[in-house]
Amino acid sequence: MRKVYYDILFPSFKMTAIRPAQEDDLASILEIYNQGIQDRVATLEEDTKDMEYMKQWFTNHSTRYSVLVAEINPGEIGGWASLNPYSHRCAYSGVADLSVYIRREFRGMGLGSLLLSDLERVAKINGFHKIVLMTFPFNLSGQRLYSKMGYRCVGIFKNQGKLDGRFVDVMAMEKLL
Ligand SMILES: CC(C)(COP(=O)(O)OP(=O)(O)OC[C@H]1O[C@@H](n2cnc3c(N)ncnc32)[C@H](O)[C@@H]1OP(=O)(O)O)[C@@H](O)C(=O)NCCC(=O)NCCS
Repeated sequence: MRKVYYDILFPSFKMTAIRPAQEDDLASILEIYNQGIQDRVATLEEDTKDMEYMKQWFTNHSTRYSVLVAEINPGEIGGWASLNPYSHRCAYSGVADLSVYIRREFRGMGLGSLLLSDLERVAKINGFHKIVLMTFPFNLSGQRLYSKMGYRCVGIFKNQGKLDGRFVDVMAMEKLL
């Protein structure tokens, strides 16, 4: 798959490329994911993950469930996004779930938007007609990103999950590609 370069948008970086993740990127992907877990705005996961978990996760993300990284300088990963299985039922084979995580110091700089744009392009190539996602209504950065990218709020599940022992609401969003 091709790399997409964004030098004009990020002149302070030597190079910004959105490209498929490789096994060598897993340490960075893990670190960025664990920041998202610790920040308590992105996921119901409470415990940070280890490399064994991440390798299994990457194995499960075979060709159709692509993982993209934003390489902001050679070898430096600023964020990642993935297509995840939504359902094992054949009727839903055209639907993917998504994840997107940006390293703390690079949030709000446009990387999430770039990753989602390219992830949607890849999703279409991989035969998906729709992306769905679950997010917290209080994740304002996430809400801004998804609204800007054309995701529609389907509804809010009240008291859907527990985070640190407290119920939290979860918002379902979708985008037809
Ligand atoms: C949510 C997240 C992926 C957004 O990625 P990002 O690279 O920071 O987003 P972008 O810079 O592309 O910004 C997208 C939009 O959100 C807005 N935005 C970004 N950060 C913001 C912030 N801290 N406060 C308010 N708005 C914000 C931007 O202004 C932009 O809208 P605009 O172009 O109309 O101005 C990123 O903040 C992140 O990784 N957060 C922690 C993990 C997480 O929450 N993942 C999503 C799980 S559902």
